[in-house]
Amino acid sequence: MVALIVAVAAAVSVYIFIYYNFLKGVKCKSDVSLNGRTVIVTGANTGIGKETALDMARRGARVVLACRSKDRAEAARFSRREDKTSNNQVVFMHLDLASLKSVRAFAETFLKSEPQLHILINNAGKTEDGFSMGVGVNHFGHFLLTNLLLERLKQCVPSRVVVLASETYRMVGLDFSKLSRTEPGHTNGFLDYAHSKLCNVLFARELSNRLEGTNVTCYSVHPGEHSITLCGHQPAPIPAPRAGPGLSRFTLQYTPQGGAQTSIHCAVQEGIERFSGRYFSDCRVREVVAHARDDAVARKLWEFSERMVGLSAD
Ligand SMILES: NC(=O)c1ccc[n+]([C@@H]2O[C@H](COP(=O)([O-])OP(=O)(O)OC[C@H]3O[C@@H](n4cnc5c(N)ncnc54)[C@H](OP(=O)(O)O)[C@@H]3O)[C@@H](O)[C@H]2O)c1
Ligand SMILES: *[C@@H]1O[C@H](CO)[C@@H](O)[C@H](O)[C@H]1NC(C)=O
Repeated sequence: MVALIVAVAAAVSVYIFIYYNFLKGVKCKSDVSLNGRTVIVTGANTGIGKETALDMARRGARVVLACRSKDRAEAARFSRREDKTSNNQVVFMHLDLASLKSVRAFAETFLKSEPQLHILINNAGKTEDGFSMGVGVNHFGHFLLTNLLLERLKQCVPSRVVVLASETYRMVGLDFSKLSRTEPGHTNGFLDYAHSKLCNVLFARELSNRLEGTNVTCYSVHPGEHSITLCGHQPAPIPAPRAGPGLSRFTLQYTPQGGAQTSIHCAVQEGIERFSGRYFSDCRVREVVAHARDDAVARKLWEFSERMVGLSAD
């Protein structure tokens, strides 16, 4: 009997230890208020984007849900009311990042109707089947969007840009010949996704170089591995490379709330400005692998992207 009680107590302690150290995940600690601040979150109708937008709304921000479907954005707004944020400063604006025309129309509407912009969160990106979203939406759409909104961000300093990237950026090198093949339907699955995420990391780096001295800062983010579940109900976000055969029934997963924490951290945490251009996960700045911190490549990608989206003359 005593042995049983000891065994149960030991099991409970081990569970509590594992829960608090590995499962619960890191939370953004800042309780900064965003009253009077305007935030754009792309892809805010579901997943990490929705949780991020919800958090911004709870902090009192005016939140623009930049989504491609009004119905889905409305649904997100509705649940926001259920969440009792008592914030009715949440508005929908149509944005389809797969279309540069739509990006331009969004920017025009936004700049006309919203006098301020303090935080831009480039979040949209993953599709239902996981990784078929290529460089077009993940990089070029957000590249153009950010550039069109940059003046407004500069007028509202201190302001920030948060770029959702992913650890998968490590898996590929930058290949400019692949970047120019953006015809719709062209997709190379997971590698295209990884490629686009590398672009995101390099984009944040070059953006911060260009913004030096302006008090507009930017950060790239990996949402982080925030929970481990046994045969969970959500599709695995990345093929869990660290889960060996013995662990194949465990998938590393993000709860959207947990996944949003690093985005929120980079959007609001005071004192991280000196890390502008850097890469964050689990609410901490991380070193990136060499090919993702090559300033010459980052600059070349910027100039290439300008031509691709029609921001430069040549
Ligand atoms: N979840 C993860 O495991 C994970 C891991 C690493 C990095 N990330 C990054 O974190 C970000 C958010 O991920 P998530 O898991 O929250 O994704 P998600 O649940 O699949 O949501 C993606 C969002 O992007 C929107 N979107 C897709 N294509 C769009 C387009 N052409 N124009 C406008 N919006 C578009 C979707 O809108 P619709 O509802 O209209 O499709 C949706 O709101 C992504 O950038 C992803 O790459 C996620
Ligand atoms: C940036 O912020 C610092 C500190 O608040 C301020 O002294 C400086 O004038 C600001 N620069 C610009 C360009 O706004």
